[in-house]
Amino acid sequence: MSEFIPPKHIGFIMDGNGRWAKLRGRPRNYGHKKGADVIEAVVKHCHDRGVKAVSLYAFSTENWSRPKEEVDFIFDILRRFLKKYKKKLIANEIRFLISGNLAELPEELRAQCEDCISATEVFTEKFLNIAINYGSRSELTRAVNALIASGKKEVTEADVSAALYTSLLPDIDLVIRTSGEQRLSNFFMWQCAYAELYFTDVLWPDFDDKELDKALDWFASRGRRYGGI
Ligand code: FPP
Repeated sequence: MSEFIPPKHIGFIMDGNGRWAKLRGRPRNYGHKKGADVIEAVVKHCHDRGVKAVSLYAFSTENWSRPKEEVDFIFDILRRFLKKYKKKLIANEIRFLISGNLAELPEELRAQCEDCISATEVFTEKFLNIAINYGSRSELTRAVNALIASGKKEVTEADVSAALYTSLLPDIDLVIRTSGEQRLSNFFMWQCAYAELYFTDVLWPDFDDKELDKALDWFASRGRRYGGI
């Protein structure tokens, strides 16, 4: 059997929390809470299987259109998650990154994100990147404006990559989207240019090690040619 080469970077579109809760006659926020509860195990299993970087889509620039109560609840889950998880990031030598515009987030959440980023900046082997207030078009527009402001008349692909939130990370080579939807939804479109796209009907709160192993087996079976033959 040929040796398993893990994806270097997996992006998760964690979809289906609301439907998971509805199936149980519970409010949508219950689904978000359960969705947050599975994250730690999934990230650990990714790193254990040799994946260097994990990106999670937690809150998109489009998610502001949800009811304020739901937006506040998701921010509250993120605050609780970071409070509990900071020590584990350090103990497990995981570098924490955020993709997205932190300036528009509640002050306390922004400060916690910045604290986790600086507390883990010495680590280089494993990464957790959370996309909050993130959209790929907004990220690319911000990058172009930064490049113009730097005085460049012409840019290379490497310049653009370096101006993105993910400048420290390899390209995403596997996207996993749960809940049966088959879209990228403004998720790291530049970084996913050559990614394999894996869609599963499993709802995010039910996603676990076994489901991840299935996705990794599927990834291993794909022939990756990057436009060659
Ligand atoms: C999509 O499900 C999920 C979200 C928009 C929020 C994801 C947030 C979390 C899992 C919790 C916080 C994250 C971290 C990193 C701690 P949906 O609400 O669109 O579900 P539906 O399509 O079934 O309605």
